[in-house]
Amino acid sequence: FQWIEVSSYEQMSEIAATIFAEQLLSKPDSVLGLATGGSPLGFYKELVRRHQEEEFSFARATTFNLDEYVGIGPGDATSYHEFMNENLFRHIDLPETRRHLPNGLATDLDAECSRYEKLIGESGGIDLQLLGIGVNGHIGFNEPGTPFDSRTHVIELTEATRQSNARFFDREQDIPKKALTMGIGTIMAARKIVLLAFGDNKMDAVERLENGAVTEEFPASILHKHPHVTVIYGK
Ligand code: F6R
Repeated sequence: FQWIEVSSYEQMSEIAATIFAEQLLSKPDSVLGLATGGSPLGFYKELVRRHQEEEFSFARATTFNLDEYVGIGPGDATSYHEFMNENLFRHIDLPETRRHLPNGLATDLDAECSRYEKLIGESGGIDLQLLGIGVNGHIGFNEPGTPFDSRTHVIELTEATRQSNARFFDREQDIPKKALTMGIGTIMAARKIVLLAFGDNKMDAVERLENGAVTEEFPASILHKHPHVTVIYGK
C-alpha cells in the first residue's frame, strides 16, 4: 500500500493524472479501469487538460468502467455512459470501439455480465484501475457482504445508496433499483489500483481501510491483499 495524503482535491486530481499519464506513456495500449462519481471529476479534468497539451494519447488505449445502472444507457443524462462522455470521452482521442461500460439496457443481464467479464479478459486484463470508495467501504457497486471472489454481476441498490444518488434524478421513481458492477474479484485482478478519497465524510472509511480487518463487511479492505495499491486521500 502506498498512502499519499494531500491537502486539496486539486492536488489529489493532479497526482492521479500523473499516475495515469505515466501509465499511458510507458504503455500506450494500456487497459484502464475507470470510475464515475465526484471523486474522479477533477482527475478527468486534469487528464483532459494534459492530453490536450499533447502529453500523451489514448489512441491505442482501452477502457472499462466499473459499473452502470440497469434501465438507462447512452443518451440518458443520468447514465454512467453519459457521465463518461461528458467528462472524458468527448475530449480525448480514445476510439469509441474501445470504450467499455456494462450495458444496463441488455435484455439478458446475466449474459451481459459474462460478456463484460470475458471482454476484460480478452483485452489482456486491466493494467490500472481507478476506484472511489463509499462511506460504507463499497468499491464499484459492491456493497458490504459482497463475496470477495465475485465477478461482474447484477446488484440491487440498497436504499441508502439509492438515496445518496437521488440528487442526480428528478423523480424518486427514476432512481434505478439495480446496477451492473465489476465484482470484487474483477477489481482485484487489475495489475495496479489507485483509490481516491477526499473530504471529511470519507475519512472514517479511509481510517477503517488503513487499520481495520479484512472483511467482506467492508469491501475495500480486500485491497490489503493486492500487491500494488495507491490511496490518495485528504480533507
Ligand atoms: C463509481 C463507483 C462508486 C464510487 C463511490 C464513491 O463508478 O463505482 O464506487 O466510486 O460511490 O463515489 P463519490 O466519488 O461520488 O464519492
